[in-house]
Amino acid sequence: MRPKIYITRKLPEQIIEGLRRDHDIRMWEEEEIPVPREVLEEEVKEVDGLLCLLTEQIDKALIDRAVKLKIIANMAVGHNNIDAHSATERGIMVTNTPGVLTETTADLTFGLLLATARRMMEAADYLRSGKWETWSPLQLTGQDVHGATLGIIGLGRIGEALAKRAKGFDMNLVYFNRSRKYEQEKKLGMKYLPLEKLLQVSDFVCVMLPLTKDTAYMIGKEQLKLMKGTSVLINTARGGIIDEKALYHALKNREIWAAGLDVFEDEPVPVEHPLLTLPNLVTLPHIGSASIATRLKMAALAVQNLADGLAGDTPRNLVLLNKA
Ligand code: GLV
Ligand code: GLV
Repeated sequence: MRPKIYITRKLPEQIIEGLRRDHDIRMWEEEEIPVPREVLEEEVKEVDGLLCLLTEQIDKALIDRAVKLKIIANMAVGHNNIDAHSATERGIMVTNTPGVLTETTADLTFGLLLATARRMMEAADYLRSGKWETWSPLQLTGQDVHGATLGIIGLGRIGEALAKRAKGFDMNLVYFNRSRKYEQEKKLGMKYLPLEKLLQVSDFVCVMLPLTKDTAYMIGKEQLKLMKGTSVLINTARGGIIDEKALYHALKNREIWAAGLDVFEDEPVPVEHPLLTLPNLVTLPHIGSASIATRLKMAALAVQNLADGLAGDTPRNLVLLNKA
């Protein structure tokens, strides 16, 4: 019996052609529209393997319907969209795509930091809307990045890659992490600080954590209050880590200077969301890993994990429950 696979979004043929040889593949044939829940609920009933994106909620109800399922391969490093506990209870493997997107996501994070600090989006709009009449001393002035203190919350692979970039800008580096990373501290000249202290001293704060029950709303009203009035908050990790209501008030009342967000609690973020009315918020539509090369690598890695799992091998990027 050839294993059956469902892929929740149209992937390039070059990525899946190898998989076709030994598997029966069904795929949602749209690139820009996610698979409707009802369709997914029907499709999972018969499949052995599921390749999904972060746009699909693979919750217990869905897992319960997938009676033959052996593996869920997420095409993302974050896997908060999958109930890994329910999957593991059923003996279903869960995999993600770490490593291949580290540098690309760090590039975007540092780019968003620069864009937010130097008001680049606002400045581009200013020019295009015909407001640029003269050069003036304090026009569109922002915050310096070089020499400033960067606080990284979560020193995983991407956090460390970000630190390397920041070092090139002569930034002072501090970090908070569940466990101390002595080797990185030494290598990158970073200082470990408790979260409260990091928030107090940092000019830039970057959230570089997975979303779990422990990190949900980790940055709320109290934490924002600790930050400097001139500070900038950047999040390219997951929306649910920052309390958006509290962030709105902090930005509106200029308790912090600006924020740059690539991720939101609900995605796509509705255009009428109050946050989007603020001039001191720079927004991107979850494009951290979006380089052509990296997205193809992520898709290929998800396919590889899926094929390995279905062949009875241990996939390279098995999500372990104590980390989920
Ligand atoms: C994207 O956000 C990812 O988790 O890979
Ligand atoms: C993700 O790959 C991380 O560990 O930061």
